Amino acid sequence: MELHGKRIALGVTGGIAAYKAAELVRQLIREGASVQVAMTDAATRFVTPVTFQALSGRPVFTDQWDARIGNNMAHIDLSREADALLVAPASADFLARIAHGLADDLLSTLVLARDCPLLVAPAMNRQMWENPATQRNIATLRGDGIAILGPGCGDQACGESGLGRMLEPDELVAALIAHFQPKLLAGCRLLLTAGPTFEAIDPVRGITNLSSGRMGYAIARAAREAGAEVTLVSGPVALPCPPGVTRIAVTSAQQMREAVLQRAGENDVFVGVAAVADYRPASPATRKIKKDGGAPSPIELVANPDILAEVAALPVPPLCVGFAAESHDLHDYAEKKRRAKKIPLIVGNLISDGFGGDDNTLILFDDEGQHPLPTAPKIELARRLVARIATLLEKR
Ligand code: C5P
Repeated sequence: MELHGKRIALGVTGGIAAYKAAELVRQLIREGASVQVAMTDAATRFVTPVTFQALSGRPVFTDQWDARIGNNMAHIDLSREADALLVAPASADFLARIAHGLADDLLSTLVLARDCPLLVAPAMNRQMWENPATQRNIATLRGDGIAILGPGCGDQACGESGLGRMLEPDELVAALIAHFQPKLLAGCRLLLTAGPTFEAIDPVRGITNLSSGRMGYAIARAAREAGAEVTLVSGPVALPCPPGVTRIAVTSAQQMREAVLQRAGENDVFVGVAAVADYRPASPATRKIKKDGGAPSPIELVANPDILAEVAALPVPPLCVGFAAESHDLHDYAEKKRRAKKIPLIVGNLISDGFGGDDNTLILFDDEGQHPLPTAPKIELARRLVARIATLLEKR
């Protein structure tokens, strides 16, 4: 319920992607939002208002002369009651009209008269998108502070393939959720590691740690939502990269170290969430090790570099944040690690509390003491950690 209590005015314009707006309404409502739909005349040729009325549970407005609003000012009232106005799909024609301030139907009048943020999700044929006229209009809208969501790339209804697809409903919902987050890290660059590392024994075997990567990915998403430029150095995980985040995929601790050290100097914050393998085989076999029936040969291990400690020891280190996942004596170990690695903030969690799941329970340890963050979804905890990081950055 990440949009709990939010009031969304959803404008639907004429395009085949209008059918996806029906699913979008469902998803917005599932996240706790209330949705008021307004459609252009062309949109009603693709999907009927009845569909949106049934899904949103509210009457749909299509006509600026609609007498259902007492003062006959639907164009004013609909935006005054909204926390955000999202137009999805936004056709090339509609974008052109609002770029020029036209107000010749209910939805364009609503856009002009609004006093809430406007987000648009363009949807059109790739040539229409690439047309200089559309690009000029998009630049104008961006300059006016309007958020342009997408478009995506891929197969189009016309049979062509390219840029111009409306983002999927779940991507639009994620963009709206991000829109509502306070921009606590605006202008800040944040680098983080996530997931496990994998240390090869031979071409098919290796040593790794159990880590789903979900906490680290949630922090990457939360930092991006808070306005940071985020680079995520990720070990092997089965997770999609959060929108707007730059991901660098690595396998071993040495690769992770190299990717981090190359970038640490140009970042304001470094968060080490990765479960880095403490040791790696000293000399991985280049060919698959075969069973020969005798006793297994021992594997000689060497210690991996401590990436976080190295970053913290840079002459001008970013604000460094570490993680301590422990099975017992969390407080002692976490505080010891914070001191040993010389970092201002460490995030402790008991392995039993959050491994691989949706929820976690964290305790933040910093110079001011302990700050418990009770059990909550990982994204919520990530947002609270981001808030703490923003506070520490301010104090620096
Ligand atoms: O030393 P330990 O693994 O217990 O500390 C955990 C913290 O240190 C995590 O933030 C982890 O990402 C980081 N770490 C690291 N490089 C290592 C080991 C841990 O960056 N080789």
